[in-house]
Amino acid sequence: MRTETEHTIFLKDYAPTPYSVVAVDMDFKITEAGTRVRTQMTIEPRPETEPGTPLVLDGDGLTLQSIAIDGAPLMMVAYTTDDDGLTVVEPPFRRFVLETEVNLTPETNTKLMGLYRSSGTWCTQCEPEGFRRITYYLDRPDILAPFKVRITAPRDIAPVLLSNGNLIDKGEAGDGMHFALWEDPFPKPAYLFALVAGDLGSITDTFTTSSGRKVDLAIYCTHGKEAECLYAMDSLKRSMAWDEKRFGREYDLDVFNIVAVSDFNFGAMENKGLNIFNDKLVFALPETASDANYANIERVIAHEYFHNWTGNRITCRDWFQLCLKEGLTVYRDQEFSSDERSRPVQRIHDVENLRITQFPEDGGPLAHPPRPDRYREINNFYTTTVYQKGSEVVRMLATLLGEAGFRKGMDLYFERHDGEATTIEAFLKVFEDATGTDLSQFSRWYLNAGTPAVTASDSYDAASQTYTLTLTQKTAPTPNQPDKPPFVIPVKFGLIGPNGSPMGWTAVAGGTVKDDLIVLDGDSVTLTFTGVANRPVPSLLRGFSAPVKLSTNLTQQDLLFLARHDSDPFNRWDALQTVATQLMAAAATGSQPASADVDALRQAIMDTLGDPALDHAFKAQVIAMPDETVIARQIGRDVDPSAVAEARHALIRAIVGPVAERVEALHAELQVIEPYSPGAAQAGRRSLRNGLLSLLTAGSDRGAALAEAQYHAASNMTDRYAALAISAHNWTKAAPALLGDFRTRFGGDPLVFDKWLVASSQAPDDAVIERLRAILAAPDFPRTNPNRLRALLGSFVMSNPAQFARADGLGFRFVTEAAAEIDKVNPQVAARVLTGFRILPLLEAGRREAGRAALEALRNQHTLSRNTGDIIDRILAG
Ligand code: PHE
Ligand code: ZN
Repeated sequence: MRTETEHTIFLKDYAPTPYSVVAVDMDFKITEAGTRVRTQMTIEPRPETEPGTPLVLDGDGLTLQSIAIDGAPLMMVAYTTDDDGLTVVEPPFRRFVLETEVNLTPETNTKLMGLYRSSGTWCTQCEPEGFRRITYYLDRPDILAPFKVRITAPRDIAPVLLSNGNLIDKGEAGDGMHFALWEDPFPKPAYLFALVAGDLGSITDTFTTSSGRKVDLAIYCTHGKEAECLYAMDSLKRSMAWDEKRFGREYDLDVFNIVAVSDFNFGAMENKGLNIFNDKLVFALPETASDANYANIERVIAHEYFHNWTGNRITCRDWFQLCLKEGLTVYRDQEFSSDERSRPVQRIHDVENLRITQFPEDGGPLAHPPRPDRYREINNFYTTTVYQKGSEVVRMLATLLGEAGFRKGMDLYFERHDGEATTIEAFLKVFEDATGTDLSQFSRWYLNAGTPAVTASDSYDAASQTYTLTLTQKTAPTPNQPDKPPFVIPVKFGLIGPNGSPMGWTAVAGGTVKDDLIVLDGDSVTLTFTGVANRPVPSLLRGFSAPVKLSTNLTQQDLLFLARHDSDPFNRWDALQTVATQLMAAAATGSQPASADVDALRQAIMDTLGDPALDHAFKAQVIAMPDETVIARQIGRDVDPSAVAEARHALIRAIVGPVAERVEALHAELQVIEPYSPGAAQAGRRSLRNGLLSLLTAGSDRGAALAEAQYHAASNMTDRYAALAISAHNWTKAAPALLGDFRTRFGGDPLVFDKWLVASSQAPDDAVIERLRAILAAPDFPRTNPNRLRALLGSFVMSNPAQFARADGLGFRFVTEAAAEIDKVNPQVAARVLTGFRILPLLEAGRREAGRAALEALRNQHTLSRNTGDIIDRILAG
């Protein structure tokens, strides 16, 4: 029987290795028959190491061909090998060179970790623990070394040979083979190692850094796709310029290469000087990529580039610190997108994403702190909590310290820790030292899981012109963390007077208020504002200044007042969303909204649409109705997802019905006639127009035909895909035919095929599972490709809750049965799909039990990977 702590790795057990790696020399000989890897590591005992301490190297699935120390082959007794690696029993007590040789078969590597082949191209993925599938090594992020890599391969099938750093030599190697020698002078952890060999096309460009150094840029791809890489290249150059301007960070090598591959477990990887990308985050043409795809490409290109400083130059001491690089780098990419596009719209977008993905994680069985203190499988911790909540924590720091203080801290971070593998504590310390702020309580954000619930209540006394505001916080227990101490919560706020303009006060007592910032750091605070001339409406948590769930005593009327008058665009959006969410949640639990309330919401929406001061992209966000997950969270427990979907639909009908004609006219007016451009202005116009189409299709009888017409008339993927997805999601009469047309029209393009899979998985009708089963079972379905599997199963699980969580358990079983098969091929993909079961505790008892039964059957009837086993066990324990 497995015990709870078996295989569990704890942060408290961290210790440096007894040996360090001084330099690494690798020699890859690649052929169709297999790859031979020879590694020479220069190794040194640390000063505190006892003579005779064994050297323990990680290895996963390797077979040792030869081993030598300083050129002399090692005798059998001098070393041992097992499933976890290689141990040199009594290494020399001085600097020495260990040479090992292994043979790899990348052709059969379906886990896509280590060296594998994607459409004929050899490529690698090493984060977090893939390097040990390439060679025996101290495969942990606190081991930093300079690398030299020689690649030899057949010239005809692999004319392109790439690794990290700068190219220092190349030439013929006889027998149709050629070689390239790469040197990366920056000491790096093995997870940033990369190698690519293949027959690839490319586009090139250059960037001159602020100090005048010229960097050669290249993006490599399948031949024929070069034109689709231009937007990615443009994004790269803008990212490089932005990091100089905003953070003073310059690029450091002579080359920066990006390679697009079609089989990849995540979005992209920041290997030093050689980023490897999932091709869906590189390729874009107006006919095949949507505005959302363009925005994502820009964001991820920036994210990986920004890692060069936050991740590579300064890396993580151990994987518990993952958030050190990921949370910070997400913060940086969000800021980049805000500067390049619209800041309010970007903020709304990021918060929506946080609420739809991170809040459910943080409130369920998979909850963990941004800096966890234990794990069984590190691959399961590349989560929305580490990434998105990690970014929110950095954002709060910036809010609390102010822009200048934050920048001072960041400058000190780069200065103090360049070249190091460090920790969250060291990160916080630079801000303490740079600004003289005590951040010990603030650090709880990194160490504790759970979304704090903040409650606000207020009262106004006209006679004394006194306004009182009480804020309290409470965080529910999460796995392994029963008690939650109070967090430091920055609450940005303003008071709004009866005529809609900001209101001041003469004095405040009970707590500290600095400009527009209240800091709630105890269980509660009561602030008394004097000299307040009228009863104000408070606008709280402006810009979503902390990742909390706020509930207030504001009436619907107050909220709609904020939706009209708040000077903070985020809160204008949020106020209206809150009203819609509350009405839908009430309807889903049996209390039908009063028609006056619906009328008021409709009026607020129409007024927003008609406001000439607001841009299209912002309006599009305002009219987008709350996601079913957000409504379910609002209900909190015993949720019936079908009732949620129905209540949502009913409210949209009630809102749109009386104004359908006007909405339709607006939809027509907003058509873009200029040639397609992916820029924010045009994209905003399209997103508003498609938002209106969505309302019309869900909310009136006029939408279905309009969607069908838009589908056929569309001249770009944004409009065509929106029409398709809206038709599928509302399962209109035309939906099956449109899906059929889309498939034949674009069937040959795998990335567009994914769009078809996503749209297909969203259908609400009862036959959807049968159709998805058939798609998955088709003999030509590419069942080893993560993008295809995620498009089909990932979006079904995450975005079709009514069918996934069907009362008869069919949806659950469909997913667990598919996961059992996928787990044999690619455990990471299977584990990720199964995280969708984290919604179980939210559901009503019947569905909850059906979901548990499906998971238990999966657990008991199959031999599972550690990845999926860990996810299932945590969900079942929660
Ligand atoms: N480090 C990558 C990023 O977020 C993500 C990643 C993790 C990619 C693990 C592959 C494997 O930029
Ligand atoms: Zn990252």
